[in-house]
Amino acid sequence: MKMKWLSDELGQIKSKGLYRELRTIRSAQSPRIKKDGREYILLSSNNYLGLATHPKVKKAAADAIEIYGSGAGGSRLTTGNTDIYNKLEEKIADFKGTEDAIVFSSGYMANIGTISALMKSGDLILSDELNHASIIDGCRLSRADVKVYPHKDISCLEKELGASKNSKKLIVTDGVFSMDGDIAPLPEIIEIAERFDAMVMVDDAHATGVLGKHSGGTGDHFNVDADITMGTLSKALASSGGYIAGNSELIEYLQNVSRSFIFSTALPPPAVAAATAAIDIIREENPTAKLRRIVAIYKKGLIDVGFNIQSETQIVPIITGDTDTTMKAALLLEKQGIFVQGIRPPTVPEGKGRIRTTLMATHSKQDINDALVAIRIVKEKFNL
Ligand SMILES: Cc1ncc(COP(=O)(O)O)c(C=O)c1O
Repeated sequence: MKMKWLSDELGQIKSKGLYRELRTIRSAQSPRIKKDGREYILLSSNNYLGLATHPKVKKAAADAIEIYGSGAGGSRLTTGNTDIYNKLEEKIADFKGTEDAIVFSSGYMANIGTISALMKSGDLILSDELNHASIIDGCRLSRADVKVYPHKDISCLEKELGASKNSKKLIVTDGVFSMDGDIAPLPEIIEIAERFDAMVMVDDAHATGVLGKHSGGTGDHFNVDADITMGTLSKALASSGGYIAGNSELIEYLQNVSRSFIFSTALPPPAVAAATAAIDIIREENPTAKLRRIVAIYKKGLIDVGFNIQSETQIVPIITGDTDTTMKAALLLEKQGIFVQGIRPPTVPEGKGRIRTTLMATHSKQDINDALVAIRIVKEKFNL
């Protein structure tokens, strides 16, 4: 009886069409995957550069297991810090063009541990309304005053900063918005922050390895520097873990204060080695160029069948609207052999459901053509 409320709550989730279930894939994150004995085109992975199956990345991970074993055995500040962590942090700092970097056990941990370490009660955080859940949770943990500003609205930022009496101020934004694929106006945000003496934090989870001349992310794309750059090793960098890049004092402070850094076991050695190898490959082999070509072909195909595409990146949502249509459209794609995710509230606002499609550098033109045929059928059936 004590736990009866659980079935009540689950019943409510189900009745709203918001029930989530695990689907089980039986192969790697390749353009074509296996599920339930059938092949699907994977059109929703964050393995953007296809590096999770790159031979050099797999070898680096396997070699790290041979040398360091499978687990870290402790947090970084106790027994868990081996030379490969220092090497990865140096590499990230170099890749992002900062003095230093610090690695966390996930991007989620990096966001909650950094925002809550930097901001306290009495401080002000200005957060874009479409920011990722880990930013929202970091803001909540900090106990600072949080103002959520309309998506990319610089004039609202100006108004809030002008009216603020808070001593410390932080503007935090996704670099590439995870469900929309558009890019934050980082130069304008930095300019306004300078005027009002506010810090800027950018979440480069979906921009690292993807945006910019050197594939370095949003700062590289615009040739500007945020005070604090967060990122994840789990998407284009084909591994797992998160990081913060910035000046040496910021990193020193986080090492001393950030609770999700201090009180969590260091990343497993193979994950560290895989991410390190992925950065080398991005620089040596430029898989980003391939991703950009595939994205261009896909978007042209969508525009040709009549979609209005707002995405500026490899994340290309197909807007479906209400939850029922979203889930039916996702199912019809799945029936046609396309593996995608229907995105519903609370991940996106009510009525803004979508199929979040994403591209990988390893997709072939045939993969894209096959996906477009299926998407066209869904467009016609649901009048999208
Ligand atoms: C914008 C954004 N920030 C942070 C995260 C969290 O990263 P991770 O999956 O490494 O915890 C994600 C990914 O889920 C994300 O999309």
